[in-house]
Amino acid sequence: MIGTGQRGRNMAIRTKLVAGNWKMNGLREDGAALARALRDHAAAAGGKPGCEVLVCPPATLLSTVGGVLAGSGIALGGQDCHAAPKGAYTGDISAEMLADLGCTYVILGHSERRHGHGETNAVVRGKVAGAWRAGLVAILCVGETQAQRQAGEAVEIVSSQLAVSIPDAVTAASLVVAYEPVWAIGTGLTATIADIAGMHAEIRSRTPPGTRILYGGSVNPKNADAILGLPEVDGALVGGASLNADDFWAIMQSCPAR
Ligand code: PGA
Repeated sequence: MIGTGQRGRNMAIRTKLVAGNWKMNGLREDGAALARALRDHAAAAGGKPGCEVLVCPPATLLSTVGGVLAGSGIALGGQDCHAAPKGAYTGDISAEMLADLGCTYVILGHSERRHGHGETNAVVRGKVAGAWRAGLVAILCVGETQAQRQAGEAVEIVSSQLAVSIPDAVTAASLVVAYEPVWAIGTGLTATIADIAGMHAEIRSRTPPGTRILYGGSVNPKNADAILGLPEVDGALVGGASLNADDFWAIMQSCPAR
């Protein structure tokens, strides 16, 4: 269904990516302090943390956090964008606006957007196209609910999310997929290692060669070794644990060298 398209720069080596999704947390003072702590970790690692590092603060903090992280090697991303470049869309933010603030990534189709804001796969597809128009890499979130998994529909749900949400112009360089089982987000529950490996293999068979596939859902320093050690897992999308600089950095240390 999805064309293999142009082979991206991550084709040969899929550089691991650890991304922090701060969600709706932090005032300017908090965001600046967290960013400074991450910058210090990056400096202590000599600017080579062993994987690509990304933080996605709330839109209100992008400018502050971007300023603190400038030159640190840590990338900046948004948590959502509108499909259109500009216009009469009160309260929305375009991908071009994110790029203007120094973002290189944007999280799209997160379950909190799908379930809390009624975003359909078709809506998400428009946003992914908007991200690409602005030169951003789209981190497309997919995942099944607990009821869907129990009904044996997990692969079918994730497959249809991929089929509808990914525009035809996809390349491995412009897309990252984050597999986040809805029931594992913010709950302390994680999918079994076998389920993660199985679903990542399914996603890999439906995306261009070289596409990075992250796992997300209650990743923390204790379970990161087992999850990030899987060859099928190219990194993590971290929510709660990304709000603590030491925990977030510890998760990164679990990325095996490639
Ligand atoms: P969590 O969130 O790590 O707090 O489970 C992950 C996410 O929603 O991206």
